[in-house]
Amino acid sequence: MSRKKIVAGNWKMNKTLEEANGLVTYLIELLEENEDVIKIIIPPFPFLSALHLKTKNTVLQLGAQDCSAHTQGAFTGEVSASALKSVGCNFVLVGHSERRTYHQEQNELLIEKTKQALNANLIVILCVGESLQQRKANQQETIVATQITSVLEALTKEQLQHIILAYEPVWAIGTGETATPQQAQEMHHFIRNLISKHHGSELANSISILYGGSCNAQNAQELFACPDIDGGLIGGASLKADDFAKISYSF
Ligand code: PGA
Repeated sequence: MSRKKIVAGNWKMNKTLEEANGLVTYLIELLEENEDVIKIIIPPFPFLSALHLKTKNTVLQLGAQDCSAHTQGAFTGEVSASALKSVGCNFVLVGHSERRTYHQEQNELLIEKTKQALNANLIVILCVGESLQQRKANQQETIVATQITSVLEALTKEQLQHIILAYEPVWAIGTGETATPQQAQEMHHFIRNLISKHHGSELANSISILYGGSCNAQNAQELFACPDIDGGLIGGASLKADDFAKISYSF
């Protein structure tokens, strides 16, 4: 995949089916057919099938919030990448900080999940980012480099073409505190350089890197204007159709 502008709405554990249907109906009305910007919604698992029916042949694409590191079998409660593909997903989040923190997901497991997703022809949105404590200790680059390098080393150049990265400083997620455009741009630039060192500048310039962490209709324009920021992974603000639509027009 070449470098694209992307806005992805991570609904997390919010909404009922009825509310989800309502939000998507309104979003489809609001969003323009602008092929320049890929617009993805990432609802909870139980709504995927129904929302696939509503979104197919519209401007909205569908993603899932996680997938299993296993192909299939006796893994109660888990959802396989191929099951996600079969209900209309084209994208899947891997390594969201809430999975890393609350479910102790480590880089090795995330590599397995990534491989499962790629084998099922899903595009992976791989999330990385440092905690507040790590930022205060000025360790953000070391932390992000470790998270990303493990993936850069485990995957082939071919596989990496199906990866989108999302830089989400944990201290900015759901807190209302956004990274400044300068802080975000610095990290995105650092990430692109890392890719370039491992796999060359052509690949580095073709991978989209999204910013996430209290990105909203007010600050998106300034963030997306930065040269290495290709869009946003939006949590809270993606639950409101007007805000999500406005963010998607912020390029
Ligand atoms: P937020 O969440 O926009 O609510 O900060 C972003 C995310 O966790 O993906």
